[in-house]
Amino acid sequence: NLKGYTTFLTQHYDNPKSSVGKQYCDVMMKRRGLDKPACKEVNTFIHGTKNNIIAVCTASGGKDYGKGLRISLRPFTVTTCKHKGGSTRPPCKYSDNKSSRYIVIACNQDGKPVHFDESL
Ligand code: C5P
Repeated sequence: NLKGYTTFLTQHYDNPKSSVGKQYCDVMMKRRGLDKPACKEVNTFIHGTKNNIIAVCTASGGKDYGKGLRISLRPFTVTTCKHKGGSTRPPCKYSDNKSSRYIVIACNQDGKPVHFDESL
């Protein structure tokens, strides 16, 4: 279904990385609606092209990783946002970690990403 892919893009795609000031995760988690109903604990934004991310669903950009998952053949620049503090109610505060990592995703039958699992 197409909804899974659009949701994936909302939650995980940000390329080029948005210039939102220094609290990137605080701003982006709110902007993408990931602060509601509660602060999402962990969320990764991928700073790569849609074409390159979609390619992870194919042999040119990814390979089988078991349990219906695929891992990218090349690392992507990603920002991982981790919720900090005790309260899970907004306003949500996050730590930011930008790094180069292999992404592990699930793809639908149309070959589009629908789930971000982890990055290694
Ligand atoms: O691992 P868990 O099932 O708790 O992950 C829940 C969701 O958190 C994932 O579906 C994904 O949206 C997000 N996540 C992420 N980056 C990670 C781990 C989890 O975006 N490194």
